[in-house]
Amino acid sequence: MDSAPGHEHADDHAGHEGGRHFDDRAATWDQDPDKIRQSGEVAAAIAAAVPLPARARVLEYGAGTALVTTALLPHLTDPVLTLADNSSGMRQVLADKVAAGGLPSPTRVWDLDLESHPVPTDRFDLVLTSNVMHHVQQLDQVLAGFAELLDAGGHLCIADLDREDGSFHDDDFGGHHGFSREELAGQLEAAGLTDVQVGDAGKVVKGGRDYSVFLAVARKA
Ligand SMILES: C[S@@+](CC[C@H](N)C(=O)[O-])C[C@H]1O[C@@H](n2cnc3c(N)ncnc32)[C@H](O)[C@@H]1O
Repeated sequence: MDSAPGHEHADDHAGHEGGRHFDDRAATWDQDPDKIRQSGEVAAAIAAAVPLPARARVLEYGAGTALVTTALLPHLTDPVLTLADNSSGMRQVLADKVAAGGLPSPTRVWDLDLESHPVPTDRFDLVLTSNVMHHVQQLDQVLAGFAELLDAGGHLCIADLDREDGSFHDDDFGGHHGFSREELAGQLEAAGLTDVQVGDAGKVVKGGRDYSVFLAVARKA
């Protein structure tokens, strides 16, 4: 498994929302058909919104088991993939998928948490992230990290929940109850990105309820 510059800090945030909580869920993550359906909706929205050149360098941040990147593969020609997650359990699933040939070789799997690790020096044509930002405390820092990771002309795609009433997570959840599209667009511009557009990207179904999902797209000038 490859590692980003933050690898040595892997245990610093083991108790973080993105750490052990997801470690325990990684092995069975793909058994939920709604996760696969919803990832397909996000991938379709990304493919419709941004150019996907041949040999695109793609980073999925908070990739989990790479459901979104996997659904995007039919739209990509010879991509160079990097899948990052701060959960060791998720990274193990990713490494197993690469080893089994389920993701194109050489796909890199990174331990990366932009809230606590330095921004890697690699550059990308597309940075995408789905259902991750509502877990991120230091949103502006992570958005600035995404902007730094993009090459000029590259795109950032963020899929996440629209503002919700707090019912999506348990009471002790310390993250964001979804996002205001307008506020997030302003934060993307403040991070130095341009041409920000936010559109619909389907829904997540949880507890018998539908939660709408947006796709925010921004470009590095
Ligand atoms: C709700 S899951 C979504 C996984 C995947 N993107 C999907 O849609 O199936 C959130 C993922 O983000 C990861 N994550 C949470 N906070 C993170 C952070 N600060 N840095 C990197 N990954 C993080 C978790 O480990 C988990 O795999």
